[in-house]
Amino acid sequence: MATRKVTAAPPVMDGVSTPGMPAGVVAAGAAVPDDILTNAELERMVETSDEWIVKRTGIRERRIAPEGIAASHLGVRAARDALGKAGMKPVDLELIIVATVTGDMPAPSTACLLQEKIGAPHAACFDLSAGCTGFLYALSVAGHMVAYGNFSCAMVVGVEVLSRVTDWSDRGTCVLFGDGAGAVIVKPASPGSGILSVHLGSDGGAADLLKIPGGGSLHPASARTVEDGLHTLKMNGREIFTLAVRNMAESVTRALKDAGCTLDEVDCLIPHQANLRIIKSLCGRVGFPMEKTAVNIGEYGNTSSASIPLALVDAEERGMLAAGDLAVLASFGAGLTWGAMVLRWGETDGCTSGGTGDGESAIGEGD
Ligand code: COA
Repeated sequence: MATRKVTAAPPVMDGVSTPGMPAGVVAAGAAVPDDILTNAELERMVETSDEWIVKRTGIRERRIAPEGIAASHLGVRAARDALGKAGMKPVDLELIIVATVTGDMPAPSTACLLQEKIGAPHAACFDLSAGCTGFLYALSVAGHMVAYGNFSCAMVVGVEVLSRVTDWSDRGTCVLFGDGAGAVIVKPASPGSGILSVHLGSDGGAADLLKIPGGGSLHPASARTVEDGLHTLKMNGREIFTLAVRNMAESVTRALKDAGCTLDEVDCLIPHQANLRIIKSLCGRVGFPMEKTAVNIGEYGNTSSASIPLALVDAEERGMLAAGDLAVLASFGAGLTWGAMVLRWGETDGCTSGGTGDGESAIGEGD
């Protein structure tokens, strides 16, 4: 694609926080596989109980992609849903960023595979990996690229097929995760609307708390790595719990301060859906009511990069989030990574969220 000229002054940055980004989200779409895995079914696979899972996590069921369905397939469905709601065509896209830790394959990027499937020839495409904070990081990057003026229409997709990297004999992790995809369309916004601030953080010192050790250049795929189960997710849940609450709360506070907003003004909090107890602890720590907090973990479990866009779409459909509302997104994940974003929902230059997208396209159909 042609080189794009920078036409706008860069937003002010202090390294981790970005106030006043003139870019916003005009529409969000979602897609999940049809197959449901219930807690009752997990009871037959590992030593666990519906009661334990619900009490300790809030999860009742999760979606599992059928064999042959990869991240790009789910991402295509979410992308079409978002584009339909925005009243846009794939050819309008100039940038596609896919946040995922379970892309179709190491190379090429899932963003390029998705670009080809939806027919978006004018888009620059790349993947971004930041664990479960991937969507927030990617939305921040897309927001900056649009705000700089060299891309006028971007799409951010958060998608995971975590069922492929789950150790189905490990009750400490297999009850938590699920598959799904979400997508948002990012366009220029007028000052005071769209993304108002972003705060992002990382701590590589905590990398061991959540990882998929095998299949990369350190432990390339081999019969031995497969035998040792290195291609599945390993986690220290207890430590992550504490750090997740602390770091998300800090990010929410920082992002609100940078946006010049108070918690009282926030209409809806959209937290990463990892554990209902983490969400409740976050609300308790910052002093935000659960009634205004988007929660759909019961239906989908932890879908990593897909969790925030899935919760966004859910919040819109339930009437918790409408155009002009002030929303705060907050997330944490492998890395460790974490962050928060304050945005005026669905208000950009001449655009509002919502629209006529039918929201559905069958998996595999034309994908
Ligand atoms: N069913 C039944 N018992 C289980 C279980 C399961 N699925 N998983 C663990 N247990 C057991 C443990 O073995 C332990 O037993 P013990 O006391 O005999 O040793 C007991 O339950 C308590 O384990 P613990 O790890 O302390 O539970 P917890 O309350 O911390 O909940 C998590 C575990 C994983 C649900 C919780 O720590 C968590 O959600 N952490 C954050 C993880 C996360 O968000 N990861 C993704 C980051 S994006």
